[in-house]
Amino acid sequence: MRRSKFLTVLVAAALGMSMVGCGSSGGSSGGTSTGSVANKDKPLCWFNRQPSNSSTGALDTTALNFNKDTYYVGFDANQGAELQGQMVLDYIKANIDKIDRNGDGIIGYVLAIGDIGHNDSIARTCGVRTALGTAVKKDGSVDSSPAGTNVDGKSKAVQDATLEVNGKTYTVRELASQEMKNSAGATWDAATAGNAIGTWTASFGKQIDVVVSNNDGMGMSMFNAWAKDNKVPTFGYDANSDAVAAIAEGYGGTISQHADVQAYLTLRVLRNALDGVDIDTGIGTPDDAGNSLTKDEDYRYSEEERSYYALNVAVTADNYKDFTDSTKIYDKVSKKLDSSKSAEKKVWLNIYNASDNFLSSTYQPLLEKYDDLLNLKVDYIGGDGQTESNITNRLGNPGEYDAFAINMVKTDNAASYTSILSK
Ligand code: BGC
Ligand code: CA
Repeated sequence: MRRSKFLTVLVAAALGMSMVGCGSSGGSSGGTSTGSVANKDKPLCWFNRQPSNSSTGALDTTALNFNKDTYYVGFDANQGAELQGQMVLDYIKANIDKIDRNGDGIIGYVLAIGDIGHNDSIARTCGVRTALGTAVKKDGSVDSSPAGTNVDGKSKAVQDATLEVNGKTYTVRELASQEMKNSAGATWDAATAGNAIGTWTASFGKQIDVVVSNNDGMGMSMFNAWAKDNKVPTFGYDANSDAVAAIAEGYGGTISQHADVQAYLTLRVLRNALDGVDIDTGIGTPDDAGNSLTKDEDYRYSEEERSYYALNVAVTADNYKDFTDSTKIYDKVSKKLDSSKSAEKKVWLNIYNASDNFLSSTYQPLLEKYDDLLNLKVDYIGGDGQTESNITNRLGNPGEYDAFAINMVKTDNAASYTSILSK
């Protein structure tokens, strides 16, 4: 049942490499007491928010090489972004006879941007604009800045595209886009997206033919507030269970970033470092229990970037039934480790925003399943999505833990954590 999905991934992975200018991308031995290992030498896994410069996207190599047991776990942002753009374009072409709701020859879409300084968000904005032809280049790469309101097509951040289907020519226009940040500073904010679609539809609702979002949290908020009732296809990202279920009700599609692989890797790299075994154990190489992933189907690893990237899969009306439970662990890595070889260890792990839809409804539930299998006792710390110190304040006793997994509020802020571990 998974074979066809993998083919899609492989083809997309091969094509994905050519995307222009979007975003970046480009152990301590075990022991029973935590006292003997200095905090600065304990295994550290950054996840979901890759240490990087939020303006340029350049990776923070200092943070990624904090010690010999430091890694990042995320997913391939460019490969996924390309899939997302293609999914929207395919839908438009396949539904060309009914997509232009007001018949003005313009296929208008609106775009919800998650966080203008987050590489995943930047990649998705670029991926959608590139596939639809609305992208413009700025300093050699695709401009990912919000267009604001662009009903007249005059914005400098995007351009009108021309699309020919069945011998007829249409214009594709990004009618509006903005960063969904609330007044307190939380990004990827679903409620803000719900408000934005209200504002947009009040002034130019008839022109909106497609709704696109950098994630499902915001996408579902716009779908429920307006798009569902008005039968306007809405596309998100993450394959959260509620969004996958909504495909049956007209949600256009989403992308699975293989959270089941990422959550496993987040804890697995810590486990391997704690056990002092090869880092590939239970990843590319089967462990004693028989767990392993398939390289270049499930994930890829960049040694230079110290980063594991899960590969993405498009989820549409064609295959959504395979994705209904986003918190189901991956069969290939579902066997419990022997606690005589991998003794229980304590991990400090934070979720930058306890109300982020993807992290709270998909990622954390997966982590909570894998931690038992990997014999890790994890303390989960939930942040408010806005203030780094709200989280770092709760890293007051690093000496109590054997390893750390960190999800920053802002990708520039790695030093706020490593300085605590270096003390
Ligand atoms: C997810 C978003 C989420 C963000 C949080 C992204 O990878 O797709 O849904 O809000 O991570 O950092
Ligand atoms: Ca139209």
